[in-house]
Amino acid sequence: MKGGGERCWWGRRGPSPELLLNLLLCLAPLGLLGEETRQVSLEVVPHSLGPPVNLLHVRAAGTNSTLHYVWSSLGPPAVLLVATNTPHSTLMVNWSTLLSPEPQGGLLVLPKDSVQFASALVFTRLFEFDSTNITTSEPLGKPYSPYSLAEFSWNNISDSLDPATLSATFRGHPTKDPSRTFANGSLTFRVQAFSRSGRPAQPPRLLHTADTSQLQVALAGASRGNRSLFRLEVVMLGQSPSCPSMQEQHSIDDEYAPAVFQLDQLLWDPHSSGFMQWRPVAFSQQQGNRESAMPCHASALEPTLPYLVPQSPIVRAFFGTQNNFCAFNLTFGAPTGPGYWDQQYLSWSMLLGVGTPPVDALSPLILGIMAVALVAPGLMLLGGGMFLLLGRKQHLEYQSIN
Ligand SMILES: *[C@@H]1O[C@H](CO)[C@@H](O)[C@H](O)[C@H]1NC(C)=O
Ligand SMILES: *[C@@H]1O[C@H](CO)[C@@H](O)[C@H](O)[C@H]1NC(C)=O
Ligand SMILES: *[C@@H]1O[C@H](CO)[C@@H](O)[C@H](O)[C@H]1NC(C)=O
Ligand SMILES: *[C@@H]1O[C@H](CO)[C@@H](O)[C@H](O)[C@H]1NC(C)=O
Ligand SMILES: *[C@@H]1O[C@H](CO)[C@@H](O)[C@H](O)[C@H]1NC(C)=O
Ligand SMILES: *[C@@H]1O[C@H](CO)[C@@H](O)[C@H](O)[C@H]1NC(C)=O
Ligand SMILES: *[C@@H]1O[C@H](CO)[C@@H](O)[C@H](O)[C@H]1NC(C)=O
Repeated sequence: MKGGGERCWWGRRGPSPELLLNLLLCLAPLGLLGEETRQVSLEVVPHSLGPPVNLLHVRAAGTNSTLHYVWSSLGPPAVLLVATNTPHSTLMVNWSTLLSPEPQGGLLVLPKDSVQFASALVFTRLFEFDSTNITTSEPLGKPYSPYSLAEFSWNNISDSLDPATLSATFRGHPTKDPSRTFANGSLTFRVQAFSRSGRPAQPPRLLHTADTSQLQVALAGASRGNRSLFRLEVVMLGQSPSCPSMQEQHSIDDEYAPAVFQLDQLLWDPHSSGFMQWRPVAFSQQQGNRESAMPCHASALEPTLPYLVPQSPIVRAFFGTQNNFCAFNLTFGAPTGPGYWDQQYLSWSMLLGVGTPPVDALSPLILGIMAVALVAPGLMLLGGGMFLLLGRKQHLEYQSIN
């Protein structure tokens, strides 16, 4: 297990010339995107059986395809991502099956044969470490007992649904909190869908498309010590028994996420299916900026057995007894540098989508700098040549006059 800040995520060295050249030569055209715009709707699926349950259906319909994101806090927070090849596919929920001990078949996307890709992510546990005294055996410090996110209670998602921004927020705290650690605190999952491509105002300003949606995880106001580091465990449903590997994309674009020249992504399989994408940075303040940026280290994915992780009823409802689960950890911050302790706050964002992951084009600022960098030497050469030519001419003229 590598320590938090070991990897070179931070742009101490700028982009290399080869990278600049590569980016210039293979700037991905925007035409790679599946659909340029989508008709997005958010619906809290209502039910009348038993205690209230948050089930949010985000439907993003294009001309030839539909993406369904189903977010729920039933069990640990989880999302299903289903892509179909028709603009008319629908989600069917059978509540009595979904809420039963055998939820298989409780969620369906119809028509069944239109489904091109389906997978799920589950956010299972939150770990906390006391980094006041780090040792080689405990590089993050002494661990506190972990929080199981299946044992959190969540707000009514209907209250935070915002059709204008296509977003909704799950706000939770532990169901049992004897030491009142979360008395003023919360863990939030803000989900947002997009009808077209763009870039939010808040760092890390991930470039999104209509084929993606964004999740921002934020922890605020809760900690058991003065120097707490946090780690989030994520479980994904794999497509095969082997787990996908994390990819690192290098980006020269420093304008949108200060000093972060890297984009991490996870592809479910190499043939452009589903993906997760994020910058390896988290923020210790709500106004994310260079001063509050801290590293976000992702561990390698490892196969995990279903009984070792909290079960998500929505995943079982859609996939039945699937057992290709892979898990990894995201560690936010390092024992030194900005941290959660600054303001008892941390946030991290990622994109979830299908097709080709968005590729950062060069920002106008960087293009300007490159133009200057490329054109200036040319001008100087030209200027130098003219000078020589003129010099020689003058010399000749002088001679001839003489
Ligand atoms: C949320 O509030 C709506 C009305 O505002 C209500 O119909 C629904 O049952 C509530 N759901 C939950 C999960 O509490
Ligand atoms: C949608 O399908 C039509 C006909 O099959 C095709 O011409 C068109 O290019 C497709 N559009 C997209 C965005 O894939
Ligand atoms: C839900 O599933 C149960 C059990 O399979 C079935 O009896 C019931 O008819 C289904 N309800 C609907 C509305 O389809
Ligand atoms: C740090 O941990 C080590 C090993 O557990 C212990 O011997 C030492 O006293 C601790 N130091 C402080 C300042 O707590
Ligand atoms: C929660 O906030 C209140 C008012 O700001 C404060 O009095 C209280 O000490 C806080 N509790 C904790 C556990 O931080
Ligand atoms: C936090 O820091 C304060 C002051 O530095 C200290 O009195 C307190 O014991 C610390 N609390 C913990 C849990 O380390
Ligand atoms: C995540 O980190 C925790 C605490 O260090 C560890 O117990 C768990 O096995 C890790 N999970 C994965 C999938 O690496």
